[in-house]
Amino acid sequence: MEERINFYGNSTPQDLCAKYGTPLYVYNEKILRERCREMKSLVDYPNFIVNYSAKANSNLALLKIVRDEGLNVDAMSPGELYVELKAGFLPAQILFISNNVESEEMNYAIKAGVTVSVDAVSQLELFGKINPGRKVAIRFNPGVGAGHHEKVVTAGKDTKFGVDPAQIDDVKAVLEKYKLDLVGINQHIGSLFMTGEPYIESVKELMRIAKQFKTLEWIDLGGGFGIPYKKKEGENRLKLDSMSEPLKKLMLKMNKEFGRQLTFKIEPGRYIVAECGVLLGRVNAVKLNHGKKYVGTDIGFNVFIRPVLYDSFHDLEVYPVNGKPNVDTEKVTVVGNICESGDIIAKNRLLPVVNEGDFLGVMDAGAYAWVMSSNYNNRLRPAEVLINENGEAVLIRKREELDDLVRHYL
Ligand code: LLP
Repeated sequence: MEERINFYGNSTPQDLCAKYGTPLYVYNEKILRERCREMKSLVDYPNFIVNYSAKANSNLALLKIVRDEGLNVDAMSPGELYVELKAGFLPAQILFISNNVESEEMNYAIKAGVTVSVDAVSQLELFGKINPGRKVAIRFNPGVGAGHHEKVVTAGKDTKFGVDPAQIDDVKAVLEKYKLDLVGINQHIGSLFMTGEPYIESVKELMRIAKQFKTLEWIDLGGGFGIPYKKKEGENRLKLDSMSEPLKKLMLKMNKEFGRQLTFKIEPGRYIVAECGVLLGRVNAVKLNHGKKYVGTDIGFNVFIRPVLYDSFHDLEVYPVNGKPNVDTEKVTVVGNICESGDIIAKNRLLPVVNEGDFLGVMDAGAYAWVMSSNYNNRLRPAEVLINENGEAVLIRKREELDDLVRHYL
């Protein structure tokens, strides 16, 4: 993969593992910035805003880079909001997309001066009760879903998310009752589509919904832009170019309908950060078990859960500790160090022969990776390193320490 050639900048992965220990998340600033720019130029339209969906990776250093690239952000929790403010985003640059929240959480966002999007009629009612007369946004379920796994399809007929357009009359009644000003509507159909069609279809639906609310200032089309995880098999990239014109046409059509220029937003998470991250781990034990070869690493599912949760595929690279690439290959099952048999990173994967002490790189591990890590088995969450634009490695988050495991006991 060409862009990986210089991924580690002036270091080798082996240097980084020796210096910072494993498991270790490594991010490349150049790639992150490139992805931000690609998304910003998705549609040639003056009021087009990219809200980075920070749930994909909310490391403070990465958020600062994203902000520097001129992106805004969404937040799904007070925690994300808090970190985004720390990263220097202004309240006006943050959209709080709430899901099943209590009034305190809503108020946290409102007090911070952030626009809140609610995703149920009753949540709109709650918002109105505590904040009558204010600006609000609503997440609709356009009835079209997409995603790489049923667990990440977030619109359509079988999901908890969004307001059913069939309830628009109820929505209008609540808006009227509390004199709320509906400034925006948003959607998110799901995560990881590799062709633009479902997205464009959902946007058409959202536009139909939008027409019913003449007060709107903005329409947020959501995220879900996929990245090719099977690069070694030659998987194609999502053709962003093919989406640009249809999206622009729909936007201009909406403006005509409204008789004024609306703002349009998108909300990519994975597309921005997935490819700028690699997870490095160490091979601690290689063994045969009833005829099957296992490569036992320190990348347990506490550190990286995507393959276990969604059967996700990630390309792997082997970095021999002696620096000499092995030309022989074999099929192995790569596992972690967690006390569950499902703790598998890759099953029956053809890899260069791996020896104990070698290092492994899990590719495209910048999104939904560190953020989904845990202390299961009382293991520590890993450190994160940034390869900056000069190729230097900078520690951007320390590895947890044993003390962190007992810090909150009384
Ligand atoms: N907007 C909303 C409201 C979302 O819920 C999400 C993701 C996004 C935007 C960004 O979606 P993206 O562009 O990253 O696809 N943990 C799963 C993905 C869960 C996505 C949840 N929502 C995974 O590892 O595949």
